[in-house]
Amino acid sequence: MYENNTMIRRIISLGIRTIASHIPPSGLKSRLYGWSGIQIGKRVHLSPGVYIADGYRSNLVELQDQCVLSPYVVLVPSSHPNTSFLAEKWQVSKRAKITIGRGAWVGAGAVILPGVTVGEGAIIGANAVVRSDVAPYEIAAGVPAKRVGDVRDKPQVQS
Ligand SMILES: CC(C)(COP(=O)(O)OP(=O)(O)OC[C@H]1O[C@@H](n2cnc3c(N)ncnc32)[C@H](O)[C@@H]1OP(=O)(O)O)[C@@H](O)C(=O)NCCC(=O)NCCS
Repeated sequence: MYENNTMIRRIISLGIRTIASHIPPSGLKSRLYGWSGIQIGKRVHLSPGVYIADGYRSNLVELQDQCVLSPYVVLVPSSHPNTSFLAEKWQVSKRAKITIGRGAWVGAGAVILPGVTVGEGAIIGANAVVRSDVAPYEIAAGVPAKRVGDVRDKPQVQS
């Protein structure tokens, strides 16, 4: 919705995101997240407790069609130590876009760090910390997240 990241626009995004965070998973919730600066596709599922640390800036997170963020997933495209003196002295801050691919499923409590792309159809295990890209249909889990399987090796659903 927004083309830039002026302070007033970030404050508006904060307001919209705060309302959205209290709405059950639904089209309305997704639409509000879109209005707050997230690039969001169709039929995206945003569970309760999802937190996106983008400083309410636009276009730092892309959630592609049908991806799922389970309860208490944290996306961190913008990592900054806020009031600490650290950032004045050392380059500890990072800011880079996070992309969650089409149909990917991020398990409960997982943390996705700056710059990560989770590929189409990938699965992220509960409580994982993901610091590097996850290939399409890869299953990744643990801290830091590592490949533990491939979705395509699972038995297929019989119709
Ligand atoms: C990652 C996950 C999808 C793997 O399921 P799976 O394909 O059936 O894999 P398995 O249970 O056979 O485990 C494979 C390996 O990964 C490890 N593993 C599985 N889940 C893990 C997790 N969350 N964290 C760390 N390691 C994990 C297992 O210990 C096993 O390791 P091993 O081969 O050394 O014994 C699943 O464990 C998971 O975490 N799902 C998320 C569920 C969730 O959060 N749902 C949201 C609420 S709806």
